[in-house]
Amino acid sequence: MTAQVPQAATSVPNAAPQAMPRILSGIQPSGSLTIGNYLGALKQWAQLYTAYDSYFCVVDLHAITVPQDPAELREATRRNAALYMACGIDPARATIFIQSQVAAHTELGWVLASLASMGALHRMTQFKDKTAKQEPGSVGVGLFIYPTLMAADILLYQANAVPVGDDQKQHIELTRDLAQRFNYTYGDTFVLPEPMIPPSGARIMGLDDPLHKMSKSSTVDLHAVKLIDLPDVARKKIMRAVTDTGRDIRFNNDPARAGVNNLLVIYQGFTDESREAIEDRFAGKGYGDLKKAVADAVITGLTPIQTRYAELRREEGYLDQVLARGAEQASVVANDTL
Ligand code: AQP
Repeated sequence: MTAQVPQAATSVPNAAPQAMPRILSGIQPSGSLTIGNYLGALKQWAQLYTAYDSYFCVVDLHAITVPQDPAELREATRRNAALYMACGIDPARATIFIQSQVAAHTELGWVLASLASMGALHRMTQFKDKTAKQEPGSVGVGLFIYPTLMAADILLYQANAVPVGDDQKQHIELTRDLAQRFNYTYGDTFVLPEPMIPPSGARIMGLDDPLHKMSKSSTVDLHAVKLIDLPDVARKKIMRAVTDTGRDIRFNNDPARAGVNNLLVIYQGFTDESREAIEDRFAGKGYGDLKKAVADAVITGLTPIQTRYAELRREEGYLDQVLARGAEQASVVANDTL
């Protein structure tokens, strides 16, 4: 379900009156973007940005909560920004920027880290997942306070809504709690943001392991189709996706059928066909037919994105200009709130 479209009007004194409601979202440059990032976030952004005052950032400060190679991080940061545009976002109508170029994010992040409780941060599922295999004493503090920096990202822009995949819902709830507590204690300052979760594709699972979310930082080759994967590579990964020994091709929440369900959700994400039409299409067919159709749909969807991406990466000067202007525009709004 998609969250109700929020109203532009706000009673918060700091927020300038907005003609359009505002959205903000970001993706970490912690790897090469996947079709999970596309179906959970980017596809929505590209559909929404003309109807909202839109801010899309590359959240590089979040990426350094785990070790990163500096050169690779710089490249992944630019790649994210170029992919935002290649997925259809026009930088003349939306503000695209890099988080670390707007100092207000870390400043408000500190204020909110001081407001948050250890208990609330310990309850974050993403923190538990990302630290499950680590010795408690060696877990980075940045990973623990990641949600308070994310809350700062959102609250600085007085965003009415945050278009994200399902895995980020808990962080938005924490953001609302912090904003509410701050407003109650110190006076109305922040707009309370709503999560905007897409009706389909909100949680794409790993192709190698359909019981776990597809993640761009996975090092397993067959785990995820990347937005810049060549068609042959994307097809190979999909054809080797884990399924089961059954035959029935239907949407199904049974964990034993998670692989087939995931392929159907991916197919739906790239074709926008209804569930009924998709189940009819695959009635009586085999898993090989399903995988071939999913690969065709994904490759058809990714081809124009990859063409535009290649053009953008030939114009690095243009990308620099977009990001410099984005940082300038974002700083005005963020500093005003700060
Ligand atoms: N598998 C997914 N299905 C649907 N949506 C997804 N998103 C991420 N994975 C899926 C959405 O994409 C945006 C990316 O957010 P992020 O990079 O800040 O963090 P994340 O959710 O932790 O994404 P990854 O790809 O899993 O990154 P790593 O591997 O670094 O942890 C969010 O809107 C998210 O919901």
